[in-house]
Amino acid sequence: MSKVYQANLIKQVPFEFKGKDFIKLVEFEPYEIHFLLEQALEMKKLQKKGIPHPYLSGKILGMIFEKSSTRTRVSFEVGMMQLGGQAIFLSSKDIQLGRGETIDDTAKVLSRYVDGLMVRTFAHESIEQFALHSDVPVINGLTDLHHPTQVLADLLTIYEQKGKLAGLKMCYIGDGNNNMCHSFLEGAASVGMHLSIASPNGYEPNLEIFENAKRIGQSSGSQIQYTTSPQEAVEGADIIVTDVWSSMGQEEEQQERKEAFAPYQVNQTLCSRAKEDFIFLHCLPVHRGEEVTSEIIDGPHSVVFDEAENRLHAQKAILKNLMES
Ligand code: CP
Ligand code: NVA
Repeated sequence: MSKVYQANLIKQVPFEFKGKDFIKLVEFEPYEIHFLLEQALEMKKLQKKGIPHPYLSGKILGMIFEKSSTRTRVSFEVGMMQLGGQAIFLSSKDIQLGRGETIDDTAKVLSRYVDGLMVRTFAHESIEQFALHSDVPVINGLTDLHHPTQVLADLLTIYEQKGKLAGLKMCYIGDGNNNMCHSFLEGAASVGMHLSIASPNGYEPNLEIFENAKRIGQSSGSQIQYTTSPQEAVEGADIIVTDVWSSMGQEEEQQERKEAFAPYQVNQTLCSRAKEDFIFLHCLPVHRGEEVTSEIIDGPHSVVFDEAENRLHAQKAILKNLMES
């Protein structure tokens, strides 16, 4: 029986999400992650059956975006509406933050108006600074270092597809030093999923995050590995995942990255080394023909649109637990 399934049994464990920030997955205990996944499944069922669930009636989420977004913006906004609340989109270009008002002052002021803040920014330290000066929960909608709400949705998608998490083998092919890879390290280690990362030299994961995931893996049973060989990483995998070669903010490195990552494309030849029933995940947006071929992302093993949908359900679980009165 998987740990997620057992989440029903651990609902009785006393823990408190309320008022907490959601900045990176490692700040949550494994049973808290399982609890959120379980609640996300409940949210999804309620929504599909058309049963109202206004847990956040009258609550307002402020959403600060310093980078572009389709999924994160819309899924948080729709999620708040489905929970009976509202969301306010704040582009950093339009608020005084973009003209030099400090993060500290912005966080203190917005905390007087809203019940929660979602922030998408560049440096991870910026969101930590927001959290330090905010009186309301702060949710990480992506930084250069982590993308925890996406990985929670990815774990939900894998659980739905495979019926378990612990003991599965995931391989991550591509930029090991980006937000997705770092959040996968924390998420996989927590739930006892094995993770093999393949990236070129110079694009290895952040060493501190990698070593910490390995340490957590020792108690969860998750084996965390790094290799420069995509063939080795994909061998026998249940889940293949990749991400763009150049993340937001790395536009100037695009050409150099295209050359470095060319041997890391997820294509039919590479995927033939995985288990026959492997699933393919990508957080989107995708560059077809670069990190993955259309044959794979638009093929029968791909679950990328379920994955995108699950942003909504996973985030509603986060919002409910952090912001409900
Ligand atoms: N996956 C993801 O975070 O997408 P957006 O950049 O569109 O929000
Ligand atoms: N690594 C990508 C993820 C986009 C959702 C980026 O940061 O641009």
